[in-house]
Amino acid sequence: MTSSQDKVVIFDTTLRDGEQSPGATMTHDEKLEIAGLLDEMGVDIIEAGFPIASEGDFNAVSEISKNSVNSVICGLARAQIGDIDRCWEAVKHAAKPRIHTFIGTSPLHRAIPNLTKDEMAERIEQTVSHARNLCDNVQWSPMDATRTEFDYLCRTVEIAIKAGASTINIPDTVGYTAPRESAELIRRLIEMVPGADEVIFATHCHNDLGMATANSLAAVEAGARQIECTINGLGERAGNTALEEVVMAMKVRNDIMPFQTGIDTTKLMNISRRVASVSGFAVQFNKAIVGKNAFAHESGIHQDGMLKNAETFEIMRPEDVGLAGTSLPLGKHSGRAALRAKLEDLGFELGDNQLKDVFVRFKELADRKKEVFDDDLIALMRTSSDPANDHLKIVSLRVQCGTEGPQKADLVMSVDGIEHTTSQTGDGPVDATFNAVKALFPHGAKLQVYQVQAVTEGTDAQATVSVRMEEDDRIATGQSADTDTVVASAKAYVNALNRLIVRREKTGTDKAEISYKDVT
Ligand code: KIV
Ligand code: ZN
Repeated sequence: MTSSQDKVVIFDTTLRDGEQSPGATMTHDEKLEIAGLLDEMGVDIIEAGFPIASEGDFNAVSEISKNSVNSVICGLARAQIGDIDRCWEAVKHAAKPRIHTFIGTSPLHRAIPNLTKDEMAERIEQTVSHARNLCDNVQWSPMDATRTEFDYLCRTVEIAIKAGASTINIPDTVGYTAPRESAELIRRLIEMVPGADEVIFATHCHNDLGMATANSLAAVEAGARQIECTINGLGERAGNTALEEVVMAMKVRNDIMPFQTGIDTTKLMNISRRVASVSGFAVQFNKAIVGKNAFAHESGIHQDGMLKNAETFEIMRPEDVGLAGTSLPLGKHSGRAALRAKLEDLGFELGDNQLKDVFVRFKELADRKKEVFDDDLIALMRTSSDPANDHLKIVSLRVQCGTEGPQKADLVMSVDGIEHTTSQTGDGPVDATFNAVKALFPHGAKLQVYQVQAVTEGTDAQATVSVRMEEDDRIATGQSADTDTVVASAKAYVNALNRLIVRREKTGTDKAEISYKDVT
């Protein structure tokens, strides 16, 4: 990387477009933590939320703004004066605030607010000017740009530039474009729109056809200088462009994509794990850059080659993305200092009280499992110190299973501090356990997803279980890990219920009241 290379601004929208993904809702504290990690990693702009959507979003954006160090903090607002004012109220606390306002410009999107082309043009002029009167740094997006008539797109972009926007974002809202077309669109806009050379063009791609990374990089080659992306590609439907992919692509193939970013790539792995953990969206094993298998070389030929020369099969080093080299597992004789050091290596900074709690849980695990690997500790960290775990707690669980059904679960569970007991049967041990939880805490939430993964190899491996539950449009995920799959399942289920209870208590604040798609 040389300083003469053009800089590509990294705009992270994990906390807005990513968090909007059904089921990925994060708590206030989790949002703050992720924003801190993004800032530390060198993300130029953090889109922290959509302040008009709910009190919860507003508070998170305000708080992130107050705590920001280097990153610009951006809030999203529809093309409405009230939205823009609310957004400004939240981001104005940041050292470097930005307002991002948008409207859907394609024929399908224009039909929603039922505006003519001229009326929409006028709305763009008014709202961008209004935002610019509040904030020096304004970004404007024509939503569904890739399906907007080119002439009309040029017209609206020109209006936004004249009204004071300094960044023009071109979203491929439905993941419809392809690399050549993505490049062509940016190139033609830069060529044809008066004033285009005075602003930064951004690319914002969704991954519906699996082309988000390629489309973003193609746009950069054509002149875009801001990529909008999320950690792990989190986002609605098939997600957004993955930050780690575009950043590493420009780093590893700097010979053909000579652009620099300000990202400290050694922090990628840690932030990926945190986002997976707080969003409840596990990273697929073969995901580029941050997947569990991305640096694993299992086949004999690969291992032989790797031992002789790592470059045989590796185009980047695990350390470049923050993956510690092979490290020794901990065991039941490992002390608190060793645990702290290992957790720090894995990117977890713990206070003394947190360490105390994790150490107890680590000892319990080490008693059951001879070797505690990095992945075991990561799984352990996912389920510790979750304040949402307070209302319901599994006290004890005994499950009877075997070839003769039905299976039976004897459960003692504390509900707000009072212990209750039940025995329930079910179609399999997990079903019996969930029935027992439901008997002690009746609820109408539907189980949408139930996933089990082995953390490491061997029959004593821990299982991580993720569940997603839905109740009256509120979605909550829960996770847990244990060497006993049924226990992990019970704890994950209870974790999700606890989160739903917290959301119930906060209804009207935590729940999104307005979607960014309500454009009128
Ligand atoms: O995908 C999209 O169009 C968006 C806009 C709000 C920028 O996320
Ligand atoms: Zn989007």
